[in-house]
Amino acid sequence: MNTKSDTASEPAIESAPVGNFILTDSSTGESWELPARTGAMGNRLIDIKTLYGQTGILTYDPGFTSTASCKSDITFIDGNKGVLLHRGYSIEELAAKSDYMETCYLLLYGELPTPEQKTSFDSDIKSHTLLHEQLSRFYSGFMRSAHPMAIMVGVVGALSAFYHDSIDITDVEQRQLAAHRLIAKMPTIGAYAYKYSLGMPFPMPRNEYSYSENLLQMMFSNPAEDYEINPVLSRAIDRILILHADHEQNASTSTVRLAGSSGANPYACIASGIASLWGPAHGGANEAVLKMLDEIGTVDQVGKYIKKAQDKNDSFRLMGFGHRVYKSYDPRATVMRETCHEVLQVLDVNDPKLELAMELERIALEDPYFIEKKLYPNVDFYSGIILKAMGFPTSMFTVMFAIGRTVGWISHWKEMLNDDEQKIGRPRQLYLGEQQRSFIPLDKRGHTEKKTSWPWFWGK
Ligand code: CMC
Repeated sequence: MNTKSDTASEPAIESAPVGNFILTDSSTGESWELPARTGAMGNRLIDIKTLYGQTGILTYDPGFTSTASCKSDITFIDGNKGVLLHRGYSIEELAAKSDYMETCYLLLYGELPTPEQKTSFDSDIKSHTLLHEQLSRFYSGFMRSAHPMAIMVGVVGALSAFYHDSIDITDVEQRQLAAHRLIAKMPTIGAYAYKYSLGMPFPMPRNEYSYSENLLQMMFSNPAEDYEINPVLSRAIDRILILHADHEQNASTSTVRLAGSSGANPYACIASGIASLWGPAHGGANEAVLKMLDEIGTVDQVGKYIKKAQDKNDSFRLMGFGHRVYKSYDPRATVMRETCHEVLQVLDVNDPKLELAMELERIALEDPYFIEKKLYPNVDFYSGIILKAMGFPTSMFTVMFAIGRTVGWISHWKEMLNDDEQKIGRPRQLYLGEQQRSFIPLDKRGHTEKKTSWPWFWGK
């Protein structure tokens, strides 16, 4: 394989100290200096690496809303301006001019491939698309009704039991082999989860097809018939994969980094990312959007649900809306919206859900609550409608996200392993429990005020 070295994606620009912040303890008057830093683009930050060692003081930041957990040179987001760049290239340009394989190469190796590098990368990925026969038998241990994301977590984690030649994370060649295997096998693993739910035979991956064509073929071909690829649909799949390829330190990527920081093998790390992605606040939102549109039902109900989303006593949220980082329109949602119209036109689908989605978007964007909280449609708002129109069942939506995001997870895992500041991830906590107390023998208990029955234990 003619790729750049494994370390090609080490930070190109070292973050430079730019002045200091002074931290003063108002109770004692003590002060400490903490360096300010700036990256190639984006916010200034306070480097608190030495804070605990110097002062014994911890910082508290649930959900990491103000914390940069690592340095990275893969993806840049300006959430206020709605900008998303991979290795400096805008997501709009990549979606319009690149393809998924090329975007994978870019994320993994830091530069767009030359024609030779692209051909070599394509063919290397194609050489790893098959599943081991015994791994295919793994599926029969699942219920036919299992959620495909449950199968993904299990089967991807199980890869580490099959590929002992690529779990030594200190070996650059093995890391690359694991990276290419994971990217290559994800569509096969995902498509088989769907075929298994239908009781259909597992189709073989076909090397004459591109990555996205092959994914469509494995999902929808029937062994009794020829399968014809619709180029508009394979292009739409390719675009969906590009739009999901990476998104810097989101929950699943941070999960992969944290799992990998202990030295865990790459297959186990990616399985942990899939588990994190599954939640409805993250990748599970595309499935949740369709369920929400079903629940809303008709355009005349939109107003009622917009009100429900604003009611603090109601757990309903507008799925596919809002983002931790974007405080303007998610640029991925803009491309997804265009792709959605293209696909529905080609398939001649007149989906009332699209009309409903557009009405929901229109009303939400004019509503003072959504304006004030800067809640805009995110990538998941339109992707489900496209996938549904193509025939993907709702339960497969998050699997599609996982297939696209695998390259992002691996690129971050690889970058982390090459980072000379890398340490095992080990956050601290603000402890609010009991202070030290003496053990009470069993026959002396029963007089405590707190109820310790199970409902109390699990309740909020
Ligand atoms: N509907 C109604 N209100 C919302 C929504 C929403 N979708 N999202 C946020 N809010 C409100 C929230 O109630 C809070 O109000 P207040 O300040 O009065 O307490 C405020 O906006 C800030 O929300 P938050 O939950 O503190 O923000 P966050 O950054 O922790 O959460 C989010 C981000 C994406 C989890 C959240 O916006 C959400 O739950 N959205 C719906 C699920 C969704 O679409 N997820 C996909 C995210 S994009 C793809 C991905 O990364 O996987």
